[in-house]
Amino acid sequence: MTYSPERRTMRDAFEVRTYDGAARIGELRVPRADVTVETPALMPVVNPHVQTIEPARLESAFGAEIMITNSYILHGSDDLREDALEQGLHELLGFSGAIVTDSGSFQLAEYGEIDVTTTEILEFQREIGSDIGTPVDIPTPPDVGREQAERELDTTQERLETAESVETGEMLVNAPIQGSTYRDLRTEAAEHAYGTGLDVFPIGAVVPLLNSYRYADISEIVDAVKRGLGGDAPVHLFGAGHPMMFALAVAMGCDLFDSAAYALYARDERYLTVRGTEHLEELEYFPCECPVCSEHTPEELREMDDDRAERLLAEHNLHVSFGEMRRVKQAIRRGDLFELVETRARNHPTMLDGYRALLDDADRLEASDPATKDAFFHVSTESARRPEVRRHHRRLERFDLDGEILLASDRDALDRSFDERWSVTPPFGPYPPALAEAYPLTAEVPERFERQAYAAAGEGIRRLVEANPGATFTVALWDWPEDVLAALPDGVERADGFRA
Ligand code: GUN
Ligand code: ZN
Repeated sequence: MTYSPERRTMRDAFEVRTYDGAARIGELRVPRADVTVETPALMPVVNPHVQTIEPARLESAFGAEIMITNSYILHGSDDLREDALEQGLHELLGFSGAIVTDSGSFQLAEYGEIDVTTTEILEFQREIGSDIGTPVDIPTPPDVGREQAERELDTTQERLETAESVETGEMLVNAPIQGSTYRDLRTEAAEHAYGTGLDVFPIGAVVPLLNSYRYADISEIVDAVKRGLGGDAPVHLFGAGHPMMFALAVAMGCDLFDSAAYALYARDERYLTVRGTEHLEELEYFPCECPVCSEHTPEELREMDDDRAERLLAEHNLHVSFGEMRRVKQAIRRGDLFELVETRARNHPTMLDGYRALLDDADRLEASDPATKDAFFHVSTESARRPEVRRHHRRLERFDLDGEILLASDRDALDRSFDERWSVTPPFGPYPPALAEAYPLTAEVPERFERQAYAAAGEGIRRLVEANPGATFTVALWDWPEDVLAALPDGVERADGFRA
């Protein structure tokens, strides 16, 4: 089945404005808070007991439109429970945007048990004024036996059904999607969740995968989930808070992220960058333009008292995280998110694996990719596998040609004439003169290609030749690798000629 993101539309909380591949800029309407959150959005995690950065400051200094806190901690706290009930969460925390509350499932996964039911915690979330509540799902870890994954998914699904029957008023409700590392279970879980009346779709239990840099597995899980959801389903990647992976995760089609990392890392004197994590101890310079890094040196922070340094590091971590999210959004607007992902994928070999795994889902990326964008930049081996290349290859099968056709690199001149002359550019392959000014053939490409780009172009030639048995094809591709030329379909002639 060809993937179509728009095959079902029944929700109205979320609306996509622009796509780039499977990435999108969208608007999530949160009725209880009476706000519209632009996605992709970063939700800072606020621990109600330890507010490293006050929620009001998250809003005023960092532009946070949405945050997340844990209702299970509030429910279990003698100090805060009554305050939360009396004042409401927004007043208690001092945050006027949308507040998401988690349910204690993460504590369940960490400590083996919790003492609330889905009904109790959802009612509590509604009572304290949460804008998006969460039932008690079971975060099944990666790589467990199939039986455990199925059994726990059954329980999660029962809890989603329970959640549907709870009186939640205007509060939106999360429908977490589990299924461990089984792709088919993740798709089934997504179809089930989408079939409930619930509103937001967090992909659960990926924290262990994030902690061990298993980006290819994450990519496969997100793909499996997305195939089970309609295009109007907002997707939250639970626990993903490192700015290094925002571009990749957004390219997978995730809309919401929660960051506890900004605070947790600051506590351990760790400094986030879009390329990875640094230790304060090992930094001589701050490679960042934020106010903290402009006004201080690493040496100064090391000499400060711990609380002050922790706070400044947390602020830097937030600046970097929100900054990267803005960069990702601008890239979606401009249609060059793939170029940004290709850059970020160079930061760590496992991120490259994640990006390569994402490109295995080319049909899904292509289904929502716009037909035209700003110039395609061929900047890495992976560029040859982008959805634009695949779409061009399929378009080649629809041409109806006869006569003698020359397929030539632009600079080649020949001493005989043909009925038609087409250009050939890696990684796309052949195209008629009429398409030369059309996306994606306006691409900026290097003069020296890797073998993969020639092979992709050779695939384009194969498609065109096989779709046109009545035509004859001659190639003038002098600078192509011999093995790629040798793999062209039988009957394709090589021109004798001279180089211009
Ligand atoms: N936080 C991180 N992962 C999860 C998850 O799978 N479920 C819930 N409810 N919260 C989480
Ligand atoms: Zn900084």
